[in-house]
Amino acid sequence: TKRWKLTNDTSYNKLALEEAAELLLNGSTVAFPTETVYGLGADATNKEAVAKIFKAKGRPQDNPLIAHVATKQQLLQLVDNLPVYVDKLIDIFTPGPLTFVLPSNGACAENVTAGLSTIGIRIPDHPVAQALLKYCNIPLAAPSANISGKPSPTTGEHVWTDLNGKIAGLLDAGPTGVGVESTVIDCTQDIPIILRPGGITKEQLEEVIGTTMVDPALANKDEKPKSPGMKYTHYSPEVPLWLIEGDAVRIQSHIDQEHIKNHKVGVIAAADTSALLNADEIISLGENMNEVTANLYDALRRFKQGDVDIILCESFPEEGIGQAVMNRLRKAASEIK
Ligand code: TXA
Ligand code: MG
Repeated sequence: TKRWKLTNDTSYNKLALEEAAELLLNGSTVAFPTETVYGLGADATNKEAVAKIFKAKGRPQDNPLIAHVATKQQLLQLVDNLPVYVDKLIDIFTPGPLTFVLPSNGACAENVTAGLSTIGIRIPDHPVAQALLKYCNIPLAAPSANISGKPSPTTGEHVWTDLNGKIAGLLDAGPTGVGVESTVIDCTQDIPIILRPGGITKEQLEEVIGTTMVDPALANKDEKPKSPGMKYTHYSPEVPLWLIEGDAVRIQSHIDQEHIKNHKVGVIAAADTSALLNADEIISLGENMNEVTANLYDALRRFKQGDVDIILCESFPEEGIGQAVMNRLRKAASEIK
């Protein structure tokens, strides 16, 4: 695996981007940063290239990939027709962390959509992703660049840990910004449906297009999610994680109970809560919800087997970006207390 460390020196980046684009055009896989998490890219029109993504990640074959494009014009080349509200959403939120599920016109390889008649497309807002897409001038299929089941990578180092030796290249530009993946929104019907909460919040969407639904399966374990990827276990840390509802006092009482059992306890919480707690290891996620979101996946990856016996994690209000954070934490948790 070739790893390019990108710097502010644009002439150096140019060489890296040219080499990465050439690998992609030749049917190889290259990981690259987006504003949400790193993606593992391959030529979305090349079935063999796309198959390499599934193999490297150990990804279930029935889980479709997102096609990444640089511009609205390129997005339009992959779909059949566009509801009026999608036009509005594209103009306001792209480039940005929003993925549109639309009727596919078949321009991408069939394994990108895992055989579905719809395709997920997004226009990422990261200078490296944008430059790479322009250098290649093809749509790039790109799921998160992690081993399936692990937290998505928010640094080049996370990608390296998971995929070194399994992919052709890694454009390492350091930490991403948002920290959780894009919002996936089904735009095949009159009223859009959020299939996966993410970087663009329900509140932001509703401000532009009015009522937006949320896939009921996200709140109800017995229903089948409309997005294939949402049914899989995901974001699992190496050590069991309990999601604790309630304040610092309640978290501390769980820590104390674990200490009585001689368990070493790791904690993940926002800065203000962290300051009130006594545990063996505490990772503070930051001062506000944007910092909490940006640092979440790194925290989930940092606790290793042997360090602690159990991770206790604070719950956050389910509004704004908190909806995406809590969706991921529920998936990461083995128990909710
Ligand atoms: O922020 C992101 O979206 C990142 C960066 C790399 O762009 N990508 C990402 O991809 O998170 P991935 O593959 O890890 O998650 C894509 C999600 C999955 O849950 C998948 O099932 C869903 O989008 N998806 C893709 N195409 C779909 C479709 N046609 N219909 C329903 N769900 C779809
Ligand atoms: Mg993923």
